[in-house]
Amino acid sequence: MRKPLVVVGAGIAGLSVALSAAPRPVWLVSRGRPGEASASALAQGGVAAALGEGDDPAQHAQDTLVAGAGHNDEENVHWLVSQAASAIAWLAGQGVCFDRDASGYCLGREGGHGRHRIVHARGDATGAAIVAALAARAETAAHITWFDAHALQGIGLRAGRVAGVRLADAAGETVGLQAADVVLATGGIGALFAATTNPPGADGAGLALALEAGAQARDLEFIQFHPTALAVDVGGPLPLLTEALRGAGAVLRDGDGHALMAGRHPLGDLAPRDVVAREVWRERHAGGSAWLDATALGDRLASDFPTALAIGRAQGIDPRRQWLPVAPAAHFHMGGVSVDALGRSTVPGLHAVGEVACNGVHGANRLASNSLLEGVAFGRRLGAWLASHASAPGATADEWITLGDDAPPCDLRTLRCLLAQSLGPVRDGDGLRRALAEIAATPGLSQAWQGRLATRLLHAALARRDSLGAHWREDTPAGPSIHQRIATPAYGEIP
Ligand code: SIN
Repeated sequence: MRKPLVVVGAGIAGLSVALSAAPRPVWLVSRGRPGEASASALAQGGVAAALGEGDDPAQHAQDTLVAGAGHNDEENVHWLVSQAASAIAWLAGQGVCFDRDASGYCLGREGGHGRHRIVHARGDATGAAIVAALAARAETAAHITWFDAHALQGIGLRAGRVAGVRLADAAGETVGLQAADVVLATGGIGALFAATTNPPGADGAGLALALEAGAQARDLEFIQFHPTALAVDVGGPLPLLTEALRGAGAVLRDGDGHALMAGRHPLGDLAPRDVVAREVWRERHAGGSAWLDATALGDRLASDFPTALAIGRAQGIDPRRQWLPVAPAAHFHMGGVSVDALGRSTVPGLHAVGEVACNGVHGANRLASNSLLEGVAFGRRLGAWLASHASAPGATADEWITLGDDAPPCDLRTLRCLLAQSLGPVRDGDGLRRALAEIAATPGLSQAWQGRLATRLLHAALARRDSLGAHWREDTPAGPSIHQRIATPAYGEIP
């Protein structure tokens, strides 16, 4: 009898692990129904792969290191970019129909990339197309049993190593699974912020549980903000306006109509995401406004960016004729559960992959469209490894790690505002200390897992006194120069 493996999370990383672990039996756990509720499904831009003429993985690696402010694990970066072509081929083999023309894959461009290298599907609906195809495969795969609409409640340990998980189904009934290998692919923490592009399930529960179980964390202070979320009150996650729009000619403007990024970075609108997010933040913080002008794209919006067009129209804005108001929003966590290149955490039997994990590949600021690539490349690698490396036979747990109390809804709202103010694109020590004090003084937060996780994030940000990548502190004079540690390549004119 083969030993089952538990995979928690059904975005691109979890699905890639589950499919690649065949023939080992997999219990796949997801909060939503198959194909729903993951951040991967909301990803628009695509998958970065150096497939264009004149491009190669070394250039992709260099752009990844520059965007990451040189804080990246270089070995993992070089491995990641070397896997891009096979990741695309594998996804296509799973049924993903990437956009093509007579010369091959259509390649878009996003911030921080020196070349057109974003492979996409259904224009700007890449994440949805990938998750739908992988979920359809997983639903019919003989080795996968899918526990959908189940929430992870606890991790069982025996003598310090993983022994199983406890789940709750939609009716609140508890389900126990005994397994010596558990993979967390639970996504990021954006839902802890007042403005985010992430779905509500990206609340950091997987990260919090791993930390409670004793797993080491890494780089928790590095949180990426997307510069162009649509600035509207939709009572939930803010709709994302993909960077690929700027790659195709859209321009950020200030309230007076001037090009907002002009003279602020050699790559202008296509500067790395942390740089653009800070400039948009500063403009708005100074009482101004920021706008995405995609009018030059005209009818290309309907054919190449149907999601962006629909997002604008849903708010009564026609992006073919009108500018879109934008604001930065929490988008991606570079930090997470510290793992090695195979996804092994410091707790034996507990693995992590995708956004919940940190193997250092993204450094201090992720390069656009490297997250779907990371999910599929590292997910396949971990799945293939676990197919042939089952941990010692599971014994029943003698200790259960659970999250404990949830913060009450009103305190959670307070926490989201606190984190947006203190841990946003621009930070300072006083703001971080004030947020810590307010959490400590609010019993509903200090005793809840969300408050404990936020405290870890704030302490990590306070401990890093220099500015680096997405962690930008206004109160440290040495900061800005550190960002230039890796020289910006001499990009040619942006075509
Ligand atoms: C985007 O399409 O702008 C976001 C893609 C990403 O997060 O890399």
